Amino acid sequence: MNWSARRINKIAKINNAQTYLEIGVRTGQTFLDVDIAFKDGVDPVFRFDTKSVESDKVRFFTQTSDAFWTQGQARSYDVIMIDGLHTFEQTFRDLLASFQYAHRKTVWLIDDTLPSDVFSAMPDQTASFRERDKLKVPGRPWHGDVFKIIPAIHDFLPTLNYATIFRSGNPQTLAWYGPRQNFKPRLNNLETISRMGFFDIQKVLPLFKFASEDAAFEALGAAFAD
Ligand SMILES: C[S@@+](CC[C@H](N)C(=O)[O-])C[C@H]1O[C@@H](n2cnc3c(N)ncnc32)[C@H](O)[C@@H]1O
Repeated sequence: MNWSARRINKIAKINNAQTYLEIGVRTGQTFLDVDIAFKDGVDPVFRFDTKSVESDKVRFFTQTSDAFWTQGQARSYDVIMIDGLHTFEQTFRDLLASFQYAHRKTVWLIDDTLPSDVFSAMPDQTASFRERDKLKVPGRPWHGDVFKIIPAIHDFLPTLNYATIFRSGNPQTLAWYGPRQNFKPRLNNLETISRMGFFDIQKVLPLFKFASEDAAFEALGAAFAD
């Protein structure tokens, strides 16, 4: 089981999840290991035989998330994983659109919220791989500019609480409803956020609310204990 499925199954235990949505499923590496009764998966290009898995409780939508949000098939979800197109704009739109299908106890897991290097942070995947190859930098990590969603959440969604899980797997941000104490926007400008580059991350590091996996789940558990 990978770190995403492990974390989603931990969330499910905390909020007693019965319904799950995964935006961006690819080979199903995470989706298939998620232990939640009702699951929806969305991907324009699934890389596995969805027909052999689908049922009235496991549904697959071969389309972009934009199409999914707007075509009336979405329902209410207890856990939502956002791992589709790795750009800030798409990820922010997916998060905002998902509010329509969320409830007070919904928990989000947003993937790729911290890029590993300047190449991985490029929003254009083809350009990212091309530049990496040109300089012979090994590996193929690609997180895109999803990291900008952190200052965007911090500054524009004061009713979401969150923690970015660091280490023990890919950095991912856990988010849940709850007013953030002492809310104060930091950049307060969506254009500034959208123009950020990899090296600007250093200037806003505290906004990520980095936590170990255990600490992030402790915070989530405490929020749900009330
Ligand atoms: C990193 S993979 C997902 C991995 C998967 N969540 C897992 O944990 O195994 C990203 C996926 O997003 C899909 N994708 C790309 N653009 C998308 C969009 N606009 N809407 C939904 N999914 C998209 C890609 O086809 C790809 O399969």
